[in-house]
Amino acid sequence: MLPRTDILARLRETDPAKLEELRRQADAVRRENVGDDVHLRGLIEISNHCRRRCLYCGLRADNARVRRYRMTGDEILASARRAAEFGYGTVVLQGGEDPNITGEWLAEVIRRIKADPATCDLAITLSLGERSEEELALWRSAGADRYLLRFETSNRRLYEKIHPPRSPDAKDRFALLPMLKRLGYEVGTGIMVGIPGQSYNDLVADIELFKKLQPDMIGLGPFLPHPETPLGRESRPAGGDQPSNDEMTTWKMLALTRLACPAANIPGTTALATLNPADAYETSLQWGANVVMPNLTPPEYRRLYEIYPNKADARESAEEFHETWVRRITALGRGVGVGRGDSPSYLQRAAMLMETTMLLSKKTPRISRI
Ligand code: 5AD
Repeated sequence: MLPRTDILARLRETDPAKLEELRRQADAVRRENVGDDVHLRGLIEISNHCRRRCLYCGLRADNARVRRYRMTGDEILASARRAAEFGYGTVVLQGGEDPNITGEWLAEVIRRIKADPATCDLAITLSLGERSEEELALWRSAGADRYLLRFETSNRRLYEKIHPPRSPDAKDRFALLPMLKRLGYEVGTGIMVGIPGQSYNDLVADIELFKKLQPDMIGLGPFLPHPETPLGRESRPAGGDQPSNDEMTTWKMLALTRLACPAANIPGTTALATLNPADAYETSLQWGANVVMPNLTPPEYRRLYEIYPNKADARESAEEFHETWVRRITALGRGVGVGRGDSPSYLQRAAMLMETTMLLSKKTPRISRI
């Protein structure tokens, strides 16, 4: 692992030759560890209702300007079928922290996806915010495979400022991540780059936390100011200790994350593509990323899922997105991933668990009933 000072120096690097060296290094580590295939995950934004008031997110409860929607079970299933038709191995069900997405309601949707012959082979990723242990366990047992929960920043003070808690005793994301792992989920996390009040040292600490947690998936994108949020109105020029929320800073973080977590699945994110719709996805794939998440949300809802303004994929239809993607990946000399695309680190963990279970079942003497 790179020492702290080295990570910091690379984050502040401006010499194009040195930056290209970092990119090449991350690209090589990506190729060695997760290969050349790019996995496509169909993103379904199932609800934009949210009970939380995160200071950066356009879906926060206080934003009265959003028209709220929640997809029906049938609509979610229809979008999942599109994913299977396109040959994707995964659907990601993402939404705000919607109290009307109850444990049992979503468990039934998960069971339906897993029972339908057209969609039963899809891995299901959930990204629904901070939920209770009971709900997370229920969804896992209903068939959910993965859970995404970004911690957004490892700086606790900044974390607490931007995430007003729902209740004083609720578990925060740092506590939920290990719990998700214990429940057997493949776990993803991530951060935003250039949050007002974040420092370069915070970004270094983020990389170190990734290294410690070894998540199976890591998503990073630039912070994008949303005018209807408190942080969106708090403008801070980059400079001094405040990192920029630009593409280059995000790419540097992407490359350093790949070096810290060689076996993780790392997507090129929509937030980066929003900064640069022309080629941010391709560039991300050359800076360490190996996953893209085409948006399968029905267009009438997609416009309303405005976590930040001008979201890159708000206009294209699922077909357009899919077709351009296959072309774009092939043009990079990379292949489109087949199958679920589980991360190698998760597969190792699952294999170890299986071995231990088998060993234990062999060694534990049966206790006969008296
Ligand atoms: N800018 C950039 N990313 C954002 N997200 C939410 N709001 C914003 C914003 N204003 C990201 C968060 C969240 C993910 C679903 O979207 O990182 O985890």
